[in-house]
Amino acid sequence: MPPALEFEHMTKEYRGWFGRNPVCALDDFSLRVEPGEIFGFLGPNGAGKTTAIHIAMGFMRPTRGSGQMLGQAFGDARTRSRVGFLAETVALYHRPVERLVRFYGALNGMRDPQLQGRTREVLESLELTDVSDRNAGKLSRGMIQRVGLAQALVNDPDLLVLDEPTSALDPPARVAVRELLLAVRDAGKTIFLSSHQLSEIELISDRVAILHRGRIRRLGRTADLLESRERLQMVARGIDPGAFEGATASNEYVTFDVLASAQRAAIGRVWSLGGEIVRVNPARRSLEQIFMEITQDAGEEPRR
Ligand SMILES: Nc1ncnc2c1ncn2[C@@H]1O[C@H](COP(=O)(O)OP(=O)(O)OP(=O)(O)O)[C@@H](O)[C@H]1O
Ligand SMILES: [Mg+2]
Repeated sequence: MPPALEFEHMTKEYRGWFGRNPVCALDDFSLRVEPGEIFGFLGPNGAGKTTAIHIAMGFMRPTRGSGQMLGQAFGDARTRSRVGFLAETVALYHRPVERLVRFYGALNGMRDPQLQGRTREVLESLELTDVSDRNAGKLSRGMIQRVGLAQALVNDPDLLVLDEPTSALDPPARVAVRELLLAVRDAGKTIFLSSHQLSEIELISDRVAILHRGRIRRLGRTADLLESRERLQMVARGIDPGAFEGATASNEYVTFDVLASAQRAAIGRVWSLGGEIVRVNPARRSLEQIFMEITQDAGEEPRR
């Protein structure tokens, strides 16, 4: 099966007037997104995420390199009807919500009665039914983002490309969107989303890439990235928490991290103190910790 989305050695340089002040937003960037996965595309402000997404959607051309979406070159018009897209900044026409979502469905070749049924369904799943007659252009920011998601989902796309889909949403809406995206994935579709909500990405992404200064700095299965091979988390019972540096105690259980190479010694120590080991697991790091390590390269100027 072809990849759902693929960037190959892509470079994008933005140039000002007369080629002044060039900015290299993507630097020999390659990435392959497989069908059926939720892929989290992360990176600090200015990393190049929106640039990559806009190139994939065919809004602009790369300086060098190429890519494909659902087996066709970027910008292919027929592929567009199989893709749902949500922009970073959603701008909506001043039309009633339901009519607007119907309009996007029709644009992608949908016709009644399916169009009608599907429009109602997505409005309902995003809790927009109550505002379906209101002017979309005059809604609150979070509501506008939900309408943006509704228009991305209405044609039941095989690939969803979402640039920060939950940035304006309140917590209940975030939970609803998370469940919606998991359901879309379970129906066999692919989701490529950029986000700064790392805890959310941790919960739903099968794989993640961390982009920094136009290059991939980390790529892998989310579970593998979060699990440290070098450190273990141990839980013991019957010992004083002061016995191990950084240990925390809860009821009778004492939890602490050790280097994998020090596992035997730590177990011996617990036993010699008259305690017992309850559990040993790979230590988990948060995506936020990994993100901070990668982006806090000393001496680098922040991008604007
Ligand atoms: N139209 C443009 N003209 C010139 N430079 C641009 C343009 N669009 C983006 N850039 C620059 O390209 C770099 C990457 O920007 P991009 O918007 O792709 O980042 P991003 O990862 O989406 O960031 P954010 O998390 O803030 O949305 C930045 O240095 C930005 O200033
Ligand atoms: Mg962006």
